[in-house]
Amino acid sequence: MTEQWQQEITKWITGKELLQATLSQPKRKDGTAAPKTIIRPIEMKNGLFYQFEYHFANKVTHDNVAEPQAAERVIDLLQENYRQALVKTNEADVQLLFSKKGKAAILKKPPTGDSSKANLQHNRQKQRILSENQAAPFLVELGIMTQEGLVHAKKQDKYRQINRFLEMVTDVLAYLPTDREITIIDFGCGKSYLTFALYHLLAVEQKRNINIIGLDLKADVIAFCSELAEKLGYDKLKFLVGDIAEYEELQAADMVVTLHACDTATDAALAKAVNWGASVIMSVPCCQHELFKQVKNDVLSPLLSQGLLKERFSALATDAARGTLLEVLGYKVSMLEFVDPEHTPKNLLIRAVRSEQHGPSMKKWEEYEQFRQFLNISPSLEHMLSERWPNRISK
Ligand SMILES: C[S@@+](CC[C@H](N)C(=O)[O-])C[C@H]1O[C@@H](n2cnc3c(N)ncnc32)[C@H](O)[C@@H]1O
Repeated sequence: MTEQWQQEITKWITGKELLQATLSQPKRKDGTAAPKTIIRPIEMKNGLFYQFEYHFANKVTHDNVAEPQAAERVIDLLQENYRQALVKTNEADVQLLFSKKGKAAILKKPPTGDSSKANLQHNRQKQRILSENQAAPFLVELGIMTQEGLVHAKKQDKYRQINRFLEMVTDVLAYLPTDREITIIDFGCGKSYLTFALYHLLAVEQKRNINIIGLDLKADVIAFCSELAEKLGYDKLKFLVGDIAEYEELQAADMVVTLHACDTATDAALAKAVNWGASVIMSVPCCQHELFKQVKNDVLSPLLSQGLLKERFSALATDAARGTLLEVLGYKVSMLEFVDPEHTPKNLLIRAVRSEQHGPSMKKWEEYEQFRQFLNISPSLEHMLSERWPNRISK
């Protein structure tokens, strides 16, 4: 016999009333089933589909199911694996609570969701890690979203940037240890949008055992961030006032983040990361002035005689030197685009992961030396890590 909750689900889906459903409280906690599944309608070229977004501990997968099969899929998932569902429709927010015997209690409240039209509009957009319609508390507190999960018009760029950052983090989570607490430090954290986002993703969503430290020179900004972390109950997110170069309080860190710290402050952060044996480094350099004063090569005169070109070239050369030095030390390095170039030219993110397959490399050191001599440069990172260069590296 079809039960009332099954009839309701079929009605919401066939009647196109469902805006979003979140299935949670899994029965199986052995990693074989997603701890949470979010379902939303999406309009595709060939009609209305429902997107099933499966949230595992360290990945999110998607499956689009055609409308005629979607209700059955939701019902199967609830019967097999979940004890709770929160369903948002135009008419109501409905909570389904399942007993151990599979009996459902149905609780209805006034609706908080968008109209279905608006919701489908959202779903034509790219699926993001921090989805709209789900107001993560830190996004509300930082003024990015309304309580209802709508991104403020002026904060769309920031919202995109946060999501892009989290995507890039998600890609390298496998490099972080899983058998102990992970320590992450964000150097030059500023107002800490991305630090809060990282904590939300790893500690709140993924329930990882982590602690994060944000460090910045500005006492007022640190006071603001500390208060907010307390308000949000983020008890393993701490903020400290200090200079990156002088920060000596850690013996080791698993992940070092440094986003837009000026000029050689980035090098100080990278040097600390290497000395702490960090498995993951995420760095967006900024204001790379150092090599502008040094770079010299007659062959490159057409490039270096124009101030603007010289400035851009010097910034790229700085990051190329940084990336190569990290490779010399055995990091696998990717240069990624962080935010759209039209928003800011500071859009390069150096992502480095320590990998067993990539040991120290003498070949990379030779490449670096040629590059440095060709440009007549002497980058700070090389000096900060002077103890680590060949002859200490074997071929
Ligand atoms: C442009 S903001 C970036 C903030 C944040 N990381 C982001 O990307 O949104 C740069 C921050 O780095 C901090 N900073 C610059 N040099 C620093 C240093 N040597 N030690 C600590 N913080 C530094 C500044 O105070 C500022 O808050």
